[in-house]
Amino acid sequence: MHWSSLVLAAAALVPAGVHSAQLRFSCAQLVVDRLDPIVNPGQNPSPHLHQVVGGNAFNVTMDHEAHDMASTATCTSCVPLEDFSNYWTAVLFFKARNGTYKRVSTVGNGLGYSNSNGGQTVYYLSSGKVTAFKPGFRMTVGNPAYRTQAEAKQNPALQFTCLDSPMTRSGYRYDFPTAPCKAGIMVTVRFPTCWDGKNVDSPDHQSHVAYPQNKKCPSTHPVAIPEVFYETYWDTRPFNNKADWPADGSQPFVWSFGDKTGYGNHGDYVFGWKGDALQRALDANCQSDLLSDKVNCPTLKLQSIADSNKCTVQRRVKEDLDSWLKELPGASMMSGMSK
Ligand SMILES: *[C@@H]1O[C@H](CO)[C@@H](O)[C@H](O)[C@H]1NC(C)=O
Ligand SMILES: *[C@@H]1O[C@H](CO)[C@@H](O)[C@H](O)[C@H]1NC(C)=O
Repeated sequence: MHWSSLVLAAAALVPAGVHSAQLRFSCAQLVVDRLDPIVNPGQNPSPHLHQVVGGNAFNVTMDHEAHDMASTATCTSCVPLEDFSNYWTAVLFFKARNGTYKRVSTVGNGLGYSNSNGGQTVYYLSSGKVTAFKPGFRMTVGNPAYRTQAEAKQNPALQFTCLDSPMTRSGYRYDFPTAPCKAGIMVTVRFPTCWDGKNVDSPDHQSHVAYPQNKKCPSTHPVAIPEVFYETYWDTRPFNNKADWPADGSQPFVWSFGDKTGYGNHGDYVFGWKGDALQRALDANCQSDLLSDKVNCPTLKLQSIADSNKCTVQRRVKEDLDSWLKELPGASMMSGMSK
């Protein structure tokens, strides 16, 4: 769905009996830390840095069975109070001409969430009846080892948008924009929408889900699940002076796992909604505004963005993330990744 015209959908427009939900809400920054409980459980520190939003049960290890996020967490950085899920992506860095790296911050989405303390805009989309995730469900999309467009295009919905203004919704691309972006860079991550109906995880954290074929879920993954989709606004505005960009004309941004192309874009999701709150919101055909902070979902308990900003967790890995750094955090653990 490319809503370049930014039509404001309303629940009243959905005919009776037709399931269609468009939940959109703000999740402020919970923590920026070098942990990855899906790909590197128990590893402190993990190889590369992430920015994380959602419930404060985010931890070094988050076992399927042992970790009931909805009862462990005491707050969430997302506006729906019953969403203790965690959503995370890699972190963007600017590489200066002298070879040092400066971490780029996330910033609240200019379309309604500019008072959010960074983080992400999270969507759950459905057209047709969908089944919400089961407790313990997790998945990743994308691959940090990808460095070519052909590889990146296997996931058609991991993209970059060079923001001319916060409203820009055109010019999607699979790699980093090549010129300064006036209002920052938006990174979009959309997950597959079909599930095998059995496994809450898989060894590669991906093969229990699949993309639809000809708009239908394949027989191997017959259960339609909501489309989890997030947008991260990276505030690259402090780095827009072309004189600071590489002399060879290349662009200066690099993912925290050493990727200068952008093709290694990926995202991680651990489901953590309380009870059936997500299923009820989807069944109620909730339709959030695309331009304001209105979630428009009477079945959900909501908090203000100001209150969501207050939910944070302490970083567990003690390392400098804010100076001009000589190398990316975890560089020594990333050999072979920095292409
Ligand atoms: C994180 O995990 C550790 C070790 O299992 C535990 O002691 C701690 O309470 C957990 N923290 C949170 C916020 O769940
Ligand atoms: C490297 O360049 C950045 C950006 O111009 C500057 O702020 C920083 O002080 C420089 N560091 C060194 C060691 O020269």
